Amino acid sequence: MADSVDLYNTTYSNLELTALEQVRVETYGEDLGQSSWLTADELRRFIAWLDLTPDSHVLEVGSGSGGPALFVAKLTGARITGIDINEHAIAAGTRMAHDSGLEGRVQFQQVDASLPLPFPGGTFDAIICVDAIIHMPGRPNVLAEWHRVLKDGGLALFTDSTVVTGLLTKEEIATRGSIGYFLFAAPGEDERLLQEAGFEVERADDVTENAALVASRWCEARARHREALLRVEDDGTYEGLQRFLTIVGTVSAERRLSRFVFVARKPGAGSELARQ
Ligand SMILES: C[S@@+](CC[C@H](N)C(=O)[O-])C[C@H]1O[C@@H](n2cnc3c(N)ncnc32)[C@H](O)[C@@H]1O
Repeated sequence: MADSVDLYNTTYSNLELTALEQVRVETYGEDLGQSSWLTADELRRFIAWLDLTPDSHVLEVGSGSGGPALFVAKLTGARITGIDINEHAIAAGTRMAHDSGLEGRVQFQQVDASLPLPFPGGTFDAIICVDAIIHMPGRPNVLAEWHRVLKDGGLALFTDSTVVTGLLTKEEIATRGSIGYFLFAAPGEDERLLQEAGFEVERADDVTENAALVASRWCEARARHREALLRVEDDGTYEGLQRFLTIVGTVSAERRLSRFVFVARKPGAGSELARQ
């Protein structure tokens, strides 16, 4: 059975390592400092759905290295608060915000987003959460908190990269879940939970293709840079991550595990749902 493997500590504490930068460029093309199935083109597409302006205040949940948040801030002028449970991720994001002169608009805080969020109700115009909700226990409470901290009429966008859409072996599930806490969802469950939390679901699109593509490119790029990676990863971590990426590539390409993006609105003050 698959042992647990560290992805995030190694990645976030070595973000500027040349080999890791090279792996990201070969994997994603445009390097945002991401550690997910997200490409820059996909993020541009997601952002266009949120109608962000320089007046918007966005919460990014599971913001990782902070690179995607900085990209969104540059693209839209919006103010972003990024939260992540990983201290190395917060340190990397804070450093990048400072280096790019965006520390006034983009800030990062170490927060466990499975717990009540440290923000007053109605703070944010939008919430973004890319490939991170799967790691948070208690999805009904997580979504209820998003609903609370959003302004009326605000939008939440998140990807769920572990929707079970086919047959999976015990080994495949264990390997897919080897990099931390994981929730696997049945199809339709995210939509049901969003509605239960008071959201109106506006979009549920299949974006599995990016996971299949990124996983296989990431695995191949890491193999090309194996020697340099083994200076920051031990053998077990290197092999464990290669197994993880191989399984993600296979189960995604075969659509047995799917990735969906959801956009959901907190109803505005005048709407029927807001009155319930
Ligand atoms: C797949 S990475 C995605 C990071 C970033 N969104 C990106 O696209 O590069 C998942 C992130 O979720 C964070 N995470 C895991 N559990 C969390 C929790 N309970 N609260 C906040 N962040 C969490 C991890 O530290 C990691 O940075």
